[in-house]
Amino acid sequence: LDNGLALKPTMGWLHWERFMCNTDCVNDPDNCISERLYMQMADVMVKEGWKEAGYEYVCIDDCWPSHQRDAQGRLQADPDRFPGGIKKLADYVHSKGLKLGIYADVGVNTCAKYPGSLGHYETDAQTFADWDVDLLKFDGCFLDWTSLGEGYINMSKALNKTGKSILYSCEWPLYEWAYQKPNYTAIRETCNHWRNSEDVFDSWNSIRSILDWTAKHQDIIVPSAGPGGWNDPDMLVIGNFGLSHDQQESQMALWAIMAAPLFMSNDLRGICPRSKALLQNKHVIEINQDPLGKQGYRTAAMNSFEVWERIMSNNSLAVAVLNLQDIGGPRKFPIVIIPSWKICDPRCTVTQILPQYKEFGVQNVQSDIVFSVNPTGTALLKITAINSRFKPSHKLFW
Ligand code: GLA
Repeated sequence: LDNGLALKPTMGWLHWERFMCNTDCVNDPDNCISERLYMQMADVMVKEGWKEAGYEYVCIDDCWPSHQRDAQGRLQADPDRFPGGIKKLADYVHSKGLKLGIYADVGVNTCAKYPGSLGHYETDAQTFADWDVDLLKFDGCFLDWTSLGEGYINMSKALNKTGKSILYSCEWPLYEWAYQKPNYTAIRETCNHWRNSEDVFDSWNSIRSILDWTAKHQDIIVPSAGPGGWNDPDMLVIGNFGLSHDQQESQMALWAIMAAPLFMSNDLRGICPRSKALLQNKHVIEINQDPLGKQGYRTAAMNSFEVWERIMSNNSLAVAVLNLQDIGGPRKFPIVIIPSWKICDPRCTVTQILPQYKEFGVQNVQSDIVFSVNPTGTALLKITAINSRFKPSHKLFW
């Protein structure tokens, strides 16, 4: 969407995967969906280096509103859980130098059965603008699929009409794929990012299935990504319970290769230092945020290894080598079998970014570097060509 926003993949925090629809503030005040949760996250984001690392949007997901609209037909926040209201919360988040995201739905109800926006797009867009909200995640439940396009387009227009810059995060293709191949040209014109595949869970199976889906559909979805509009493979679940550290590194590395929006869904108030360091790893974030804005592809799958490559600015290439074998120990991967390795003809520099940062210096096509990749882990590399005439063209390899 050409609204000047999301020129790089959006970074922030989103409550859904970790906190879901917990509305029980009486028994679980620390984890319920309430203004307190977002204020505390905003505080931590500033204090603990998240903001500095680039995480900017604090985002509300489902279950924030009251079940009734007000007398003017406007959405209102649940008064017990958001006593100050959303405008106050936005002011608070802004006072920290961060931005606030909110959630609504294109249909009659949200997925958790709170009021949807169907029939109220202009009112709701204006309400969000009046509250000074900076991002809208617009879900796709409870609407006939044939009306999805019209609904998402009309909300995009309604947001634009408010005159306030509101980043627009859609789930249009996810809900359309069940019936037909979505029109990604229209989606890109309408949204700043869009969910394609199922909701992420806190498990390695979930991460694998999102990666599989993405690789299977890459010819269709990858070309539509670029500054202003991104494919959204859903939240980072790093720092929670279900992924080993190697698997967390795999998610981080592959989300960087996919030029994915980086929305963490975790509890930043008590995150383990290793997960924190990974999420704040500036070299990985730099790959994710590369200004060329080209999403990577899976370029090889062999012997339970997958290679994913992303073309970056300054004649660089980011390469993720994922070891999918989940039995046994670390396995070796010779660098020369990377599909675009000819980028090192005549010379290149190689830097390993994950699991450890290590500069290998100048290499050539005969390099004898061999990586060791842990089961379900990933080696993430950055390779920069020196006077190479080889232009990596991922078409060659899939
Ligand atoms: C859908 C979305 C999720 C989340 C929930 C909330 O499942 O895909 O990301 O927003 O709804 O109910």
